[in-house]
Amino acid sequence: MKTLKSILVTGANSGIGLDICRHIASRGYQVYATARTATDMEILAKIESVEPIHLDVTKPKQIEAALTQITSMNTGLYGLVNNAGLGGLGAFYTWSETELKQLFDVNTFGPWRMSNAFLNMLVESKGRIVNIGSQGGMITQKYFGPYTMTKHALEAYTEAMRGELEPYGVHVSIVQPGGVVSKIGPNSMPGIIKRLKRAKPPFKEEADEILASFEDPPETGEDAPESASNRKPSDPSIVSEAVFHALFSEYPQDSYLVGTQWEGDRVLNALLKKLIQANANPQHNYSRDELIALMDQHIDQYRSSKQE
Ligand SMILES: NC(=O)c1ccc[n+]([C@@H]2O[C@H](COP(=O)([O-])OP(=O)(O)OC[C@H]3O[C@@H](n4cnc5c(N)ncnc54)[C@H](OP(=O)(O)O)[C@@H]3O)[C@@H](O)[C@H]2O)c1
Repeated sequence: MKTLKSILVTGANSGIGLDICRHIASRGYQVYATARTATDMEILAKIESVEPIHLDVTKPKQIEAALTQITSMNTGLYGLVNNAGLGGLGAFYTWSETELKQLFDVNTFGPWRMSNAFLNMLVESKGRIVNIGSQGGMITQKYFGPYTMTKHALEAYTEAMRGELEPYGVHVSIVQPGGVVSKIGPNSMPGIIKRLKRAKPPFKEEADEILASFEDPPETGEDAPESASNRKPSDPSIVSEAVFHALFSEYPQDSYLVGTQWEGDRVLNALLKKLIQANANPQHNYSRDELIALMDQHIDQYRSSKQE
């Protein structure tokens, strides 16, 4: 049996998953890296300390086979990184029920299926589960509805699962990236275009404008500050570093918000707005001073939990 901890990463052949896989493997850990094609598995097999696993997170038989394969390696399993995911934008009226279900099947039910399948091994090792969420698990906006619904659901799943597994010594974290350089954009684009082309009046004009904006994106200078129309995606390494901390630090965080300053400001402002709105109702309306005192109390609690 290997002495170093072994980690299973889903969707490891591309973008964030590939970076996580390299990051962990290069530090000497055994990585089980999942991919869906023979070509991708061959590429992964060339990375030192990486064992490719054929796996689609929507296929229970393949998950069962992966469990058998990893069990037979006699390494145990210390960490599961639920990274595999699909993107996709577009107004709700453009999505079919089948497409919406597929998105949930991969992004939300995938982590649930994988965690259940490997639960006994993770409990045995008192290991870690790290879900790759998104900043879109906390905020949303028009056209991002379906994708952010799956990531909001993943937030709830992560928090509830953390409570359920804590007594068994398994910690569950979520990493919440902003925009990251990966293949998620190009991989999602054919579906987005297909859906937008389905739009019928009175929504067709709006859909056509979005389609036209793909052909002719607005020009922004390299040095122009980040904004909603001038996003500056981060390198996947910032996600890998957070995942590494969640897996191996003595005190893993429950969540890791990663991305640019502009993105972080956007999330925090949206959360503060929700807090103010939740407080502005007849049952709960702390005064400003009470609200600030409560915030200070939470900051203190968080700081002391980090010093335990
Ligand atoms: N990039 C961003 O801006 C960003 C931001 C926030 C969160 N995220 C999250 O980060 C994760 C990784 O995305 P990425 O940006 O690295 O995108 P990506 O480059 O498109 O990679 C997605 C990975 O998921 C795999 N995958 C898709 N469907 C699968 C299925 N049914 N079973 C198993 N694997 C499947 C893909 O495999 P194939 O290559 O075979 O399709 C690929 O390996 C996702 O959960 C995504 O939601 C990304």
